Amino acid sequence: MTSLSAYLETRATTDLARAIAGLATAAVRISAEIRAPHSVLDAVAGDVNADGDTQKALDVLADEIILEAARDAGAAAYMSEEREAAIPLADDGSLIIASDPLDGSSNIGVNVSIGTIFSILPTDGSGLIDGRRQLAAGVFVYGPQTTLLVTVGVGVASFRMDADGDFRLIDDTVRIPAASGEFAINAGNQRHWLPPVQRYIADCVAGADGPRGKNFGQRWVGSLVADAWRIFCRGGVFLYLADRRDGFADGRLRLVYEAAPMALLVEQAGGRATDGTRDILDITPTAVHQRVPLVFGSCEEVDEVGRQHAAG
Ligand code: F6P
Ligand code: MN
Repeated sequence: MTSLSAYLETRATTDLARAIAGLATAAVRISAEIRAPHSVLDAVAGDVNADGDTQKALDVLADEIILEAARDAGAAAYMSEEREAAIPLADDGSLIIASDPLDGSSNIGVNVSIGTIFSILPTDGSGLIDGRRQLAAGVFVYGPQTTLLVTVGVGVASFRMDADGDFRLIDDTVRIPAASGEFAINAGNQRHWLPPVQRYIADCVAGADGPRGKNFGQRWVGSLVADAWRIFCRGGVFLYLADRRDGFADGRLRLVYEAAPMALLVEQAGGRATDGTRDILDITPTAVHQRVPLVFGSCEEVDEVGRQHAAG
């Protein structure tokens, strides 16, 4: 079965292939740390990250492992959820790596899937450039299996880690179905949602008796990476848009290392990713930790959310 390195050899530049291979090796290490019998999964590191979240020991370890991979790959800089500012690396590096080293932190301690998100960028604009200019993006999921979704800008491929720590191709033409009957949202925040989200979800919940004329199921893992993997497998829509809570005017997720790489994967798999109105990939970040409202997944559903926003 095709290995990740064989897949990349014909599709990516040497520098890009080296960076992705290095990240895959880092993911093998992170996966092993998570599974290690000695790992106290929810041990707290005692610090807060740039975003004010309490860091877990595994957050810090994953971040150090990804930083090492970025350094070994000869990257010019590393941007991370766990670091206030970009870390400069090789002066002559041709790319920048941005990462959420361990996404889904609130699930670390409860043995639910978590993952690593990465974006590989050219060095222009110190990495603060619109998502369409990403060179590559990917997501590793540490779940019942360790898996990878990756794009180097032309389609999306999925891989599964084998017992030797090699990533083996599952599917080199991953496509998100255009239609779906599943939505993912944290419904505990319903009273804070803005009218377009209220209307969209009310129509889904009304099911076959409502204007959509079909029934919907609801799923919310609470790890972006795990909700995303399901959507890439069988369709669906994920929503974390702006709401009325203090600090949620731009939703919750971060543009540079969560939403933009996810959006590149989604578009390359035939889906759509917006902030309700604009394509995520058209937004130019002004800060490393900038948040952005995010809806992504099956085109029919993301378009319906867009129509609700256009209606005001
Ligand atoms: O990285 C942020 C994150 O942990 C995502 O992985 C996840 O989708 C979301 O937050 C969950 O947010 P909440 O706890 O508000 O449901
Ligand atoms: Mn995250």
